[in-house]
Amino acid sequence: MSDQQLDVLVFGSAIIDFICYTPRLPRAGETLHGHRFQQGYGGKGANQCVAAARLGSQTALIAKLGDDSFGNDYRRQLQAEHIDVQHVQQLAGQTTGIAQIAVSDAGENNIIIVVGANNLLSVSDVSNAAEHFNRAKVLICQLETPLEATLFALRQFKGVSIVNAAPALAETPTALLQQCSILCVNETEAALMTGMSSIDTVSDANNAIRRLIELGANTVIITLGKFGAVCGKKEEPEKFEHVTAPQVPDNLVVDTTGAGDAFIGALAHNLAKYPKNKLTQHIEAACKIASKSVQLPGTQASFPHA
Ligand code: RIB
Repeated sequence: MSDQQLDVLVFGSAIIDFICYTPRLPRAGETLHGHRFQQGYGGKGANQCVAAARLGSQTALIAKLGDDSFGNDYRRQLQAEHIDVQHVQQLAGQTTGIAQIAVSDAGENNIIIVVGANNLLSVSDVSNAAEHFNRAKVLICQLETPLEATLFALRQFKGVSIVNAAPALAETPTALLQQCSILCVNETEAALMTGMSSIDTVSDANNAIRRLIELGANTVIITLGKFGAVCGKKEEPEKFEHVTAPQVPDNLVVDTTGAGDAFIGALAHNLAKYPKNKLTQHIEAACKIASKSVQLPGTQASFPHA
């Protein structure tokens, strides 16, 4: 058993991103000329892990890759980021997950994922990594890997757990909301999960937090892009708070892909390293990191170092 500290443990996805930069997002049935292509390392789980590692957290990732060249490269890349990859397994006969991402000149994106090997992350991967689960201060999970294993991981973990419920489900299982310390979603995901038509204002976000707490969540953070984030705790129903983000001029925003992952990795890093700070201080620090990431293209490629 290792006695080395483990700040952030991520149980989740690792995906290769194929990003096309294009004047605007295509309509159904339309072919567009894009102006640039970039391949990168992505997947919400690995992104969040890399974001925390670059800020100085000791991190470990539990994830599945294919036994293809993407998987080989990805494992080496995670090691280069100083992430513990003891439980990043390459599976024979499986393909590494891929994401097809379009990013418009306005910085909007849409993403299709084909998760491949990520679909085989299972309950036994939690049991096999019991030592990591006992040692980590913060656990992060997302919804790009099987839900059953995620629920099991959350049940086994006794520290601070963050669920990034993305891609969001219209019917989120109550257990998922109840079993994490912090639920973190963006405004679009929060709208889908609560049945609201959209979340356009801080007051809408406060209503969504109220609804998510009614549905079972303990503490909720809703990120609002350039407007920062709103948070609320079940035990303090009258004290939801809005944290603003540093202002980035529109002409400097080049790619918002992965900004939410930069936020969550930074949030986990701050929770692990400064446990006595207030949630709003953690959110403020995470907003700063996310606002830096939107100023560079790519997902992990855009995440800052400490
Ligand atoms: O959040 C951005 C990520 O979503 C991308 O890296 C892509 O792989 C998808 O998982």
